[in-house]
Amino acid sequence: MAIFLDSSKIEEIKKYKAMGFVRGVTTNPTILLKEGVAGMAGVKARIIEIAKLLEPLPVSAEVTTNDSKRMMEEARDIASWAKNINVKITIHGPNGELDNLAVIHELETKENIRVNVTAMMSAQQCFLAAMAGATYVSIFAGRINNMGYDSVNEIRVLRSLLDGHKLKAQIIAASTREILNVVQWLQAGAHIVTVVPTLVDGMIVHPYSKETVKMFLDDAAKNR
Ligand code: G3P
Repeated sequence: MAIFLDSSKIEEIKKYKAMGFVRGVTTNPTILLKEGVAGMAGVKARIIEIAKLLEPLPVSAEVTTNDSKRMMEEARDIASWAKNINVKITIHGPNGELDNLAVIHELETKENIRVNVTAMMSAQQCFLAAMAGATYVSIFAGRINNMGYDSVNEIRVLRSLLDGHKLKAQIIAASTREILNVVQWLQAGAHIVTVVPTLVDGMIVHPYSKETVKMFLDDAAKNR
């Protein structure tokens, strides 16, 4: 799986998808708001457009409520927009309400809806989400580092728990902050890193490669 884009910008997704390394896209309400996608109708249209562009690769779209009944309804609706859409649900409510795992469990085991459990900051949260049946567990590794904890260790522990218990969940390491995060988190055991597109250019371009390419082109010109 490896690299997803954390974006809802169509042109940006098209540009990097054409390069051949993109294996999926993740969005959330904050990304959509920042990118100027307005209202529920706007969100639906944008997510469907991304899903068509990516097909059959996965696209994550998040529910907008923390009420159990409405989460179930929204999840069913979002999942019906396209076959390759999975539904993002946070590990718990804004005040630590514990309803979400039951919703996740029901969607995955009774309704055949793939869930990406999100906003998680520790291996233990992700482990429980995986036990509940989640297809993806999103660990916000950049935010873990921001809090002064070691995201690499958290990912390593999580991968060993998932493998040891033969759980199907795939780890999505999210909230990239630095270019180094991508290879570091993949090497620590993340199945996927969802990357902010601006970091991708920094992964590709190297000053010494630039100098080398310039040398080749200059010498080729002298030889003409
Ligand atoms: O995919 C989750 C990601 O968008 C959260 O990133 O930068 O808000 O921590 P950030």
